[in-house]
Amino acid sequence: MKGHPGGGGHTRRLIDLAALPPGERVLDLGAGAGEAVALLRSLGCEAQGLDLEPRSPLVACGDLLRTGLPSESFGAVLSQCAFFASGDVPGALAESRRLLRPGGRLLLSDLFFEPPEPLIEKAGFRILYAEDMTALWREYYLEALWRGDGDCPTVRGKCAYWLLICEKEGNDGPV
Ligand SMILES: C[S@@+](CC[C@H](N)C(=O)[O-])C[C@H]1O[C@@H](n2cnc3c(N)ncnc32)[C@H](O)[C@@H]1O
Repeated sequence: MKGHPGGGGHTRRLIDLAALPPGERVLDLGAGAGEAVALLRSLGCEAQGLDLEPRSPLVACGDLLRTGLPSESFGAVLSQCAFFASGDVPGALAESRRLLRPGGRLLLSDLFFEPPEPLIEKAGFRILYAEDMTALWREYYLEALWRGDGDCPTVRGKCAYWLLICEKEGNDGPV
């Protein structure tokens, strides 16, 4: 599966809920075809994207678990349907936290096989907004199965699709 439930409208909602300041530096992790990067730029953000298999010149090739980008260099990290796909959600959260300035925001919409709160809080984030969008995911997944989407992941067990706006807590730098 290459996109995410809700398409561009869902991305816009995620961005609006985060209330980013004008000109914010934003990194899209697992940016795919770069739609969110293009949208963020059209809204005045300084946005860039990273993906293992970039599908747009707006997206650089890289691993979201080991970006190699400088610490605390972004005001916001956005990711849709990519942390789960990376196979290491705690690792993706840790790399996002490293990349964010203190107080920076993580804009996430993704699948979770456990309640997201403990995972997010353990990674050093405070949840500002959470919305269970499982019904949207179910519809999207069934449509993909119906289309015969070759990339459709085998999802075992009870999962939920969450939209989350989180804030980086604490400061990793020298006191
Ligand atoms: C379901 S697609 C979502 C793409 C995009 N975020 C969107 O919403 O349209 C998941 C994306 O995550 C990327 N991905 C998976 N593991 C990754 C990793 N370790 N590092 C970077 N990208 C990764 C895939 O290449 C794919 O483009």
